[in-house]
Amino acid sequence: MLQSKQAGVLGVAYNVPENIMTNQDLEKIVDTSDEWITERTGIKERRIAGPGQATSDMSLAAGREALERAGIKASDLDLVIVCTLSPDTLFPSTACIVQDRIGAVNAGAFDLSAGCSGFVYGLSVACQMVNSGTHKKILVIGAETLSRILNWKDRNTCVIFADGAGAAVVGEVPAGYGYINSVLGADGAGGNFIIMPAGGTRMPATAETVAGNLHSIHMDGSEVFKFASRIVPKVAFDVLKDTGVAVGDIDIVIPHQANVRIIKSAAKRLGLPVEKFYVNIERYGNTSAASVAIALAEAWENGLIRKENNVLLIGFGAGLTWAGCVLKWSI
Ligand code: UT7
Repeated sequence: MLQSKQAGVLGVAYNVPENIMTNQDLEKIVDTSDEWITERTGIKERRIAGPGQATSDMSLAAGREALERAGIKASDLDLVIVCTLSPDTLFPSTACIVQDRIGAVNAGAFDLSAGCSGFVYGLSVACQMVNSGTHKKILVIGAETLSRILNWKDRNTCVIFADGAGAAVVGEVPAGYGYINSVLGADGAGGNFIIMPAGGTRMPATAETVAGNLHSIHMDGSEVFKFASRIVPKVAFDVLKDTGVAVGDIDIVIPHQANVRIIKSAAKRLGLPVEKFYVNIERYGNTSAASVAIALAEAWENGLIRKENNVLLIGFGAGLTWAGCVLKWSI
């Protein structure tokens, strides 16, 4: 019989490209303004991958540092999960590329596609696998190179999305710490609100799909905005239900960095001071599955997450999907 364990996070890290693109840079590319982007989203600048830099490169850098901080050797990992909607290739999975390059010779590997909820989905899955005893040490990475799947003529999307990676090592932590609960949700009926229409089996790549910019992110921003504003507080209430952790007991919320207005409205609806929400969207934009991972690692690095803290992670995005995970921090 499998023994039940207590899973938690042993180490976190992030990696973003060096190249900074400011709102002023975007003013030269599309009909937009620093004022519009700042007021409507909160973004001031974002990181854009250099030539030849792909999702696995940032994943590898973030993953290596997370392992080092956790004091874990790559060969101790028994699973690598890469949460992404912009993999290096459709197959093999980016997780397999990372598994090889990082030297996780004893690990299985798979990519997880849950849009911007990806990392929270991945962390929840990993924690429950460690809890169940089937796996001991899992590397969970959220990583994106969205700049490669943006239409740089579409001001609705190109000012928002960006590149980066964050990683967490999940393993056993002392009793009373670590994973408390998670919720995973989806509403596929809203799938067309954020979609890359071509490049799959429904619409394979042709000269026409390329000419029609169908290999890029298409988003109905206002529909997603309405969904996000409704779902974020609901995720928080749902994930805390029956856990004994009240909303007021949360020390820090790490939300998906999609729009600072969504974060402010969630804070209000939850009755939490907005200062409890970690925000870095002004520097990194929306990095989809990487955003919660980067924010978690950066908040930890900045000393804003300490041992004993109740940490609430919230993701939402393409699918549509949503996810929440609450942990008592142990490092
Ligand atoms: O990460 C996955 C989840 N994604 C999200 O959560 C995104 C959620 N949505 C949003 O954050 C917001 O809807 C956006 C930031 C994408 C857009 O903000 P909005 O306040 O919903 O703007 P809108 O789409 O309703 O557009 C308002 C106006 C339009 O002009 P008219 O029709 O009023 O003349 C747009 O054409 O703003 C215009 N606009 C822009 N103007 C300058 C749209 N994009 C831009 C732009 N620069 N980049």
